[in-house]
Amino acid sequence: MPQIFPKRANLLPTLTAVGGLGGGLFVIFFIWYYFSPSYTDVGYAPVQPVEYSHRLHAGQLGMKCQYCHNWVEEAAHANVPPTQTCMNCHSQIRTESVKLVPVRSSWATGQSIPWVKIHQLPDYARFAHNVHVANGVGCESCHGRIDQMDVVQLAQPLSMGWCLQCHREPEKHIRPQSEITTMGYVQPPDYIARNLERIRTEGIQPPTDCSACHY
Ligand code: HEC
Ligand code: HEC
Ligand code: HEC
Ligand code: HEC
Ligand code: HEC
Repeated sequence: MPQIFPKRANLLPTLTAVGGLGGGLFVIFFIWYYFSPSYTDVGYAPVQPVEYSHRLHAGQLGMKCQYCHNWVEEAAHANVPPTQTCMNCHSQIRTESVKLVPVRSSWATGQSIPWVKIHQLPDYARFAHNVHVANGVGCESCHGRIDQMDVVQLAQPLSMGWCLQCHREPEKHIRPQSEITTMGYVQPPDYIARNLERIRTEGIQPPTDCSACHY
C-alpha cells in the first residue's frame, strides 16, 4: 500500500482550510497531488529493522543481486532473502556488531526479520519479474541505482503511465541480457537500431491491452 498520509501530511489542516475557499478546484488538485503515484511513491524509503546497506553489499562488495533475490529470474515475485542468507557471512563476519543484533536474534528464534515492503502494486495490477528480466529489462530501469542506496527508496512511480511508456517503446529501454543487473549501464550509440533488431528477431511485444495487466 502506498502510504495514505505521507511526510507532508501535517500540511493537511492548512491546505484543507485553503480548500474551503477554493472549492471544487481544490478537491481536484488535492486528489491529483496527494494520490498521484509520483507524489506518494517516488522517494518512499521506510526505515528498515536492520541498517542493511545495498551501497555496501551490492556496491562496494560487488555482490550479485541474485545472491539474495534468487527468485527474480524464475518467478513472478522477487523475494527478499531469508536470514540464512545473511548468516552465510555474518556467522563469521562482524559477529559482535550491534547493528546485526536483529539478524542474530532472528536466526536464534527462527522468526523472520520484518523487512518493510517498499515496492507494491495494487492487487488489481498484474506484474511478473521473470518476463521482464528475460526480455532485456534491467533492474536499474525500474529500481534505479540500488548499488548507491544505503536505504532502498522508490526510484520510479510504478504508475500505469510509467508501465505503458516503456510498453509502447521498448526499444528505448531494453538492454543486452548480459547487462540485466548492471548498475550505471550506458547504452551504445546505435542501441535503438540494435534493440529494434532484437525486438523483431525475438518477437518482444509488451502488451498494452487492459486485460494483460488487469484481472
Ligand atoms: C546481501 C543480500 C542482498 C543483495 C546482494 C541485494 N539485495 Fe536487494 N534487498 C536485500 C534485503 C535484505 C532487502 C530488504 C531490506 C531493504 O529494503 O533494504 C532488499 C530490498 C531490495 C529492494 C526493495 C524491495 C521492496 O521491498 O520493494 C530492491 C528493489 C532490491 N533489493 C534490489 C536489489 C538489486 C537490484 C540488487 C543488485 C544490484 C540487490 N537488491 C542486491 C538484500 C540484498
Ligand atoms: C557475502 C557476505 C555477506 C552477506 C551474504 C551479507 N553480508 Fe552484511 N556485511 C558483509 C561485509 C564484508 C560487511 C562489512 C564488514 C566490515 O565493514 O568490516 C557487512 C556489513 C554488514 C552490516 C554493517 C555491520 C556494522 O557493524 O557496520 C550490516 C548491518 C549487514 N552487513 C547486514 C547484512 C544483512 C541483513 C544481510 C542479509 C540480507 C547481509 N548483511 C548479508 C558481508 C556480507
Ligand atoms: C519492469 C520493471 C522491473 C524490473 C525490470 C525489475 N523489477 Fe523488481 N519490482 C518491480 C515492481 C513493479 C515491484 C513490485 C511488485 C509487486 O508489488 O507485485 C518489484 C518488486 C521487487 C522486489 C520486492 C519483492 C518483495 O516481495 O518485497 C525486489 C526484491 C525486486 N523487485 C528486485 C528486483 C531485481 C533484483 C531485479 C533485477 C534482476 C528487478 N527487481 C527487476 C519492477 C521491476
Ligand atoms: C522498461 C520497460 C518496461 C517497464 C517499465 C514495464 N514493462 Fe512490462 N514488459 C516489458 C517487456 C520488454 C515485456 C516483454 C514482452 C514480451 O514478452 O514479448 C513486458 C511484458 C509485460 C507483461 C506480459 C507478461 C506475460 O506474461 O507475457 C505484463 C503483464 C507487463 N509487462 C506488465 C507491466 C506492468 C504492470 C508494469 C508497470 C508496473 C510494467 N510491465 C513495466 C517492458 C517493461
Ligand atoms: C502495462 C500494464 C497496464 C496496462 C496495459 C493497463 N494498465 Fe491500468 N494500471 C496499471 C497499473 C500498474 C496500475 C496501478 C497504478 C497505481 O498504482 O497507481 C493501473 C491502474 C489502473 C486504474 C486505476 C486508476 C489509476 O489510474 O491509477 C484503472 C481504472 C486502469 N488501470 C484501467 C486500465 C484500462 C481501462 C486499461 C486499458 C486501456 C489499462 N488500465 C491498461 C497497469 C496497466
